[in-house]
Amino acid sequence: MKKIAVFTSGGDSPGMNACIRAVVRTAIYHNIQVVGIMHGYDGMINDEFIPLDAKSVANIIHRGGTILKTARSQEFLTIEGRTKAAKNLTKHGIGGVIVIGGDGSFKGALQFSKECDIPFVGCPGTIDNDLIGTDFTIGYDTAINTVVEAVDKIRDTAESHNRLFFVEVMGRDAGLIALRSGIAVGAEAILIPETKTNVDELINKLESGRKNKSSKIILVAEGDDAGGAFAIAEKVKAALPYYDTRVSILGHVQRGGSPTAMERVNASRMGFAAVEALMEDKKNVMIGIVDKQIQLTPFENAVKHIQELNPHLMKMVDILSL
Ligand code: F6P
Repeated sequence: MKKIAVFTSGGDSPGMNACIRAVVRTAIYHNIQVVGIMHGYDGMINDEFIPLDAKSVANIIHRGGTILKTARSQEFLTIEGRTKAAKNLTKHGIGGVIVIGGDGSFKGALQFSKECDIPFVGCPGTIDNDLIGTDFTIGYDTAINTVVEAVDKIRDTAESHNRLFFVEVMGRDAGLIALRSGIAVGAEAILIPETKTNVDELINKLESGRKNKSSKIILVAEGDDAGGAFAIAEKVKAALPYYDTRVSILGHVQRGGSPTAMERVNASRMGFAAVEALMEDKKNVMIGIVDKQIQLTPFENAVKHIQELNPHLMKMVDILSL
């Protein structure tokens, strides 16, 4: 393999830059040329290829976002778009591609592999942590720390005013941001799409626990089956008017910021392993870290996001939130 390409795709996540840096420097170490593709699959279609050297990835390990920019490409969903992308990869003599992204990006790579022979290896880049085959995706640790910092501040004001807060966090298909950050902030309830939300039960719990604590925080994943934080808060307010209720939507603040130390290390390990995987002729696999070890998972398995939530963790959430 003489030349590889790297790009970021889908929603950005802190740590993507650390991963790009690792890919570039590992490839250079092995005398492989690297090009970056700007703006995700759109850049592959529109021929936005740029050479990368060791210096072009200096001083990025601590920066959020992605120096290669990103996009959720609609054109790559079409055969015309993918045909243009394949022509550009061939034109630039690309022997392998590293995609840093989430499930949509890997589904795109999988479809592409049926039409084009160039091997793809993925690094899981998404704050949602909703991929099978890795304990942590790049961006998740930073995102939950951002949530914890924000909710701790909300707790201060909630406590001063004896208020009930519904805090909505990202995750339209997955509740793992809500789950872990909810445990870390001592949330009184955590509402996620993976488990059926019963608003009546929540109302009963809030009613019976009314005297227990002066402030209450409910973490709601944006994709929760009972609706978003505003919708749930409205129902609770109607049933329990004596609660002074507020809603806070954290939004895209969760996608930015300097990656945590753990994120930088994991992203570096994954980028490093992705280059080695291409050199070993692996294709259509996602690099993950499971029990501290690098693991390769075929794209088709990585994107089946039926997350089995740990039942012990769920029981603990119930007991600790009493
Ligand atoms: O996939 C990451 C994510 O941040 C989700 O948690 C969220 O639902 C979505 O992206 C938001 O995407 P966009 O920034 O395109 O609105």
